[in-house]
Amino acid sequence: MITPDSADSLSNQARALLAGTQDPIANAANLSAFIFQNIPLLNWAGFYRLVDGRLLLGPFQGKFACVEIALDKGVCGKAARERKTQVVGDVLSFPGHIACDAASRSEIVVPLITQEGRLLGVLDIDSPVADRFQPTDVELMEEFAAIFLASISDKTESF
Ligand code: SME
Repeated sequence: MITPDSADSLSNQARALLAGTQDPIANAANLSAFIFQNIPLLNWAGFYRLVDGRLLLGPFQGKFACVEIALDKGVCGKAARERKTQVVGDVLSFPGHIACDAASRSEIVVPLITQEGRLLGVLDIDSPVADRFQPTDVELMEEFAAIFLASISDKTESF
């Protein structure tokens, strides 16, 4: 259970972890590891980058995953297309869910949008537990996405 205090502490730790470089791949790699290690009951945490009009696998933790996702496919495609966080309590009842890991039961996908309004990709978090993600978790994942975007703000072209 994420309390407001633990969320603040995790956000501060993540900010400090990403402060050493503005390199997008380095920070995406460390943030996915940080999320995977610190948020209970996850089986996947990572990034898809928007490259040539589709989502391409980026740094992640968990089992190997689908390399490309079209914008009209899956929870990731929906988050990117609608530019809106998607929270799916039961992936088995989400039409078009892409099961990279058959163990996944619930999922959050946060779109990564720069201050200039450019979509860079998505942050995708999966859990083997149905209804794993509560509003406090969603808020924290959106905060992690914002911390990532702030950490690379001068280097968004290279993500
Ligand atoms: N489940 C996602 C695909 C990515 S994997 O979960 C890592 C989706 O439906 O878009």
